[in-house]
Amino acid sequence: MTVMEAIQARYSVRQYADKPIEAEKIEKTMEAGRLAPTASNQQLCKHIVVTDKELIRQMVSACEDQKWIETAPAVLVECASGDRTMICGQSARSMDCAIAMSYMTLEAVELGLQSCWLGWFSPEKVRALLNIPDDYVVVAVAPIGYPAKEGHRSSKKATEEVVVYNKMN
Ligand SMILES: Cc1cc2nc3c(=O)[nH]c(=O)nc-3n(C[C@H](O)[C@H](O)[C@H](O)COP(=O)(O)O)c2cc1C
Repeated sequence: MTVMEAIQARYSVRQYADKPIEAEKIEKTMEAGRLAPTASNQQLCKHIVVTDKELIRQMVSACEDQKWIETAPAVLVECASGDRTMICGQSARSMDCAIAMSYMTLEAVELGLQSCWLGWFSPEKVRALLNIPDDYVVVAVAPIGYPAKEGHRSSKKATEEVVVYNKMN
């Protein structure tokens, strides 16, 4: 599978099959996060994979009661320490985490898995649940697993609406 094929095959899944993810697939997914670029190559992210069923059950309440999360055999959590605002005005660690999560979720697709990014979560609840220290920002959460059934694909805007060559009008 090419990178573009993985990008095309990815979609958000909110119902997972009752099937564990093989250890080597989890390892490959985490490896994709480890190899992702980071601002100044500081590599301050922690790529957490939650596989404990009870912890996953408790993630539901940390994620605004999105009950379908409980169907996932694993949940990825991206956090990072030492946040700083870059000259461009963006949080270095938020970007690092978002890139790592993108890499991991695309690698997961190559392995036959799907995921769903979550922005609806309480960082403080996730922090407390997973013993994440106070100096870490918790940026992204994504349940991951085999889809229970073929899901529907979201529509995407047309190229001319979102791609700009040179200056915006
Ligand atoms: C930053 C971010 C936050 C999101 N938060 C949630 C969420 O809390 N719950 C949820 O069900 N989906 C969430 N999604 C999934 C989006 O709804 C989904 O990506 C979007 O509808 C496009 O569908 P697709 O991923 O299948 O292309 C989130 C996606 C992103 C990128």
